[in-house]
Amino acid sequence: MPESLFQVKRLSELAQSGQLKGKRVLIRADLNVPQDEAGNITEDTRIRASMPAVQMCLDAGAAVMVTSHLGRPTEGQFKSEDSLAPVADRIANLLHRKVPLISNWVDGGFEVNPGEIVLLENCRLNVGEKKNNDELAKKIAALCDVYVNDAFGTAHRAEATTHGVAKFAPVACAGPLMAAELDALSRALASPKRPLVAIVAGSKVSSKLTILKALSEKVDELIVGGGIANTFMLAKGLPIGKSLAEPDLVNEAREIMDLMEKRGAHVPIPEDVVVANELSPLARANRVASDQVAEDDMILDIGPKTAARLSTMLAHAGTIVWNGPLGVFEIDQFGGGTKMLAAAIAHSPAFSIAGGGDTLAAIAKYGIENQVDYISTGGGAFLEFLEGKTLPAFAVLAERAKG
Ligand code: 3PG
Ligand code: MG
Repeated sequence: MPESLFQVKRLSELAQSGQLKGKRVLIRADLNVPQDEAGNITEDTRIRASMPAVQMCLDAGAAVMVTSHLGRPTEGQFKSEDSLAPVADRIANLLHRKVPLISNWVDGGFEVNPGEIVLLENCRLNVGEKKNNDELAKKIAALCDVYVNDAFGTAHRAEATTHGVAKFAPVACAGPLMAAELDALSRALASPKRPLVAIVAGSKVSSKLTILKALSEKVDELIVGGGIANTFMLAKGLPIGKSLAEPDLVNEAREIMDLMEKRGAHVPIPEDVVVANELSPLARANRVASDQVAEDDMILDIGPKTAARLSTMLAHAGTIVWNGPLGVFEIDQFGGGTKMLAAAIAHSPAFSIAGGGDTLAAIAKYGIENQVDYISTGGGAFLEFLEGKTLPAFAVLAERAKG
């Protein structure tokens, strides 16, 4: 976990001081959006979140080139389904202007004038992108006067357009989305207002073990949910019936709890849970005390007493970091815990930050988008930051900022 904020150059500073006028600016955005079978964009949050950087550059009189990856194509093999064409159309609609899509752009040979924007075709089609090849990165750097990384969603990848180019471009800076993510994450984890409460939920301890360990050293309360909570309950000697859990990781769970207890921090264990015999929308949900889970029960949510106690904790928090829904919230009778905690986060005066696909779905379901202080656009990048890893995209921008 980076204790101190990464010091990076910011696009807004360059724009405000007139340093973009007439300049060729290359923006690496994360426009990796979901599409249906026919190629239609089904969700465009990342595209919309990338527009402020573009607008800032256009307003400042720059010639703007934008690129992104889309999916995981084979380098050097163009297939129409890997094209950014639908993304170019969407940007054109959002900005009410023409957005030409340029293929085979690495060696230049295309035109873009100040006040104009072009979209450079899927950067993962370029041979050497994934391996962060220096020769490719140098060619890309040669296309611009200023390189802007605004692709937080890809900040955990060291690739030619996210990392290599930042080493070689004349100027390298963070775009407004990247800067906002960095600021929110730093505020939540580098210098949090306390108590700092994290919610880490999901099916498996194993996939979130690094996050649990990293956060256990920082937070005052570590709320666990889903299969993760079941494993912690097992570690406490509670019966969990046939609930999803990882008995192999019981010792790890116990260690996390012990280490936290030593410094006066806690993993609150559910006192009641919602169980059913099957995972189905038709299942009857029963509330039971957590020491009363029967052999053929599956725990599918926290119970109302637990939810009330956790809500009080969230109401008194200084900072909240949320990753993962607490129960199987997609089925309403198992969504009570997530719903109640979502409401508690929404009403808490704490600075709150949330990220991860399922978490965003829960936020949308309970309609609290406007009451969470920051919702990250990063999936894997958000998780790796929580794991305490240094994201390569931040690292190289910080390196360049040292001058
Ligand atoms: C994502 O959607 O997670 C980012 O755009 C990164 O994509 P990747 O996992 O294919 O590198
Ligand atoms: Mg991913």
